[in-house]
Amino acid sequence: MIRLDDRLRCAFDLLRGSAAVADIGSDHGKLTAALLLDGCCRRVIAGDISPDCLQKTREIIERYGLQDQAETRLGSGLSILSPGECDAAAILGMGGELIVEMLTDSKAVAEAMDKLVLQPMSGIEELRQWLYKNRWHVTADRLIPVGRRWYQLLSVQKADRSDPWPEGFPVDCWLVGYRSYVNRESGLKPYCQEQLQKRRERWEKAAGTAGEEKLAREARQLEQILKEMEGWN
Ligand SMILES: C[S@@+](CC[C@H](N)C(=O)[O-])C[C@H]1O[C@@H](n2cnc3c(N)ncnc32)[C@H](O)[C@@H]1O
Repeated sequence: MIRLDDRLRCAFDLLRGSAAVADIGSDHGKLTAALLLDGCCRRVIAGDISPDCLQKTREIIERYGLQDQAETRLGSGLSILSPGECDAAAILGMGGELIVEMLTDSKAVAEAMDKLVLQPMSGIEELRQWLYKNRWHVTADRLIPVGRRWYQLLSVQKADRSDPWPEGFPVDCWLVGYRSYVNRESGLKPYCQEQLQKRRERWEKAAGTAGEEKLAREARQLEQILKEMEGWN
């Protein structure tokens, strides 16, 4: 079997129930292989912009004899797909800006899917804001610690309207997801505590600089979330 770290395991779990999955930026191909070996998905189209990375995906597919169920395609983002070809896509380990670009450039493909599982390495606030503005319903927003780093994974689907803003969650807060708050994700409290600590440290050094107000606002938002969580059972 393929050993997945907690980040990839979370993506794997979020993709359960999808018959045909696109693994965009497949690279090492572990997710592609694990989805097929487990039998939780019947077909995977693995895409990567880099021929060398796609070759790694091909190797793992061949190693596990999954050629009948997996296809590799060289190209950028969701442009390798036609609308309706896959039920779900995983776009993991890339910048939030690049993910937004992919969803914008291949709007018809993205919107035809039942589910997108996204894991930005940076620009997560911008991605969350874009998803909200463009009416993507967030069904999960997980916080996963791996070593000393936190990863955030979102599962989203196209909707007719923006999600309602949850009561008690700070207005205009994108640092953490409102869905992780609504779903009472176990990682939310330790993540907020860690982020608040970091902001307080930076805030002291940023006194009098342009970044001071942003740090203060973010610290207030984190304090509010932690305070709301005190009332949870
Ligand atoms: C850091 S790796 C992540 C691999 C895997 N998805 C994961 O999360 O473990 C990023 C991968 O995305 C690929 N990539 C970068 N830009 C891309 C694009 N526009 N379209 C498709 N793949 C891309 C890279 O070649 C690389 O293989």
